Amino acid sequence: MPTLRWNDNFNVGVEQFDLDHRHLFELLKSCYDNLTSVPPVGDFGCSLDAFIDYATDHFNEEEKWMKANNYPKFAEHLNLHDRFMTKIIEIRFDCIEGRNSLSVGILDFVKYWLTNHVWAADTSYGRFAASNSNHLRRRSYADREPSVHPTAYACQSQHAPRGSVHCG
Ligand SMILES: [Fe+2]
Ligand SMILES: [Fe+2]
Repeated sequence: MPTLRWNDNFNVGVEQFDLDHRHLFELLKSCYDNLTSVPPVGDFGCSLDAFIDYATDHFNEEEKWMKANNYPKFAEHLNLHDRFMTKIIEIRFDCIEGRNSLSVGILDFVKYWLTNHVWAADTSYGRFAASNSNHLRRRSYADREPSVHPTAYACQSQHAPRGSVHCG
């Protein structure tokens, strides 16, 4: 099982996405902390929703960047994002509706997917960026459009602002 500790192997070399990835790691760590601490700290469901909201926004930004820069593996990468989001949303709704329970096993699934995705698929577009650095279109944080994730109603949080977790 890969560790959730950040190291330089996870850097893709596109600053805004490296910052996003670090924040996703922090959000997932908060999920573990909230789930396993005694007494409980915060609301675990809401901390998972904050992770899902941020991941949704991050994936959207990566996909816009790949499309704008004609990344050759765009369709393949989009499929990886979509399959993960379909799975985690299904798990989350099963928990909300009582067909499943939030657990360390669910977080381990997310950790496994996230670390492997960043290390393998995201670093691949990082190498593409490095070899095409003179032609890339950049997006700034100011260009970002906030997204509202389907799980937002669960904790009334809507989209978590960059750099903060406000419901868990
Ligand atoms: Fe990513
Ligand atoms: Fe990605």
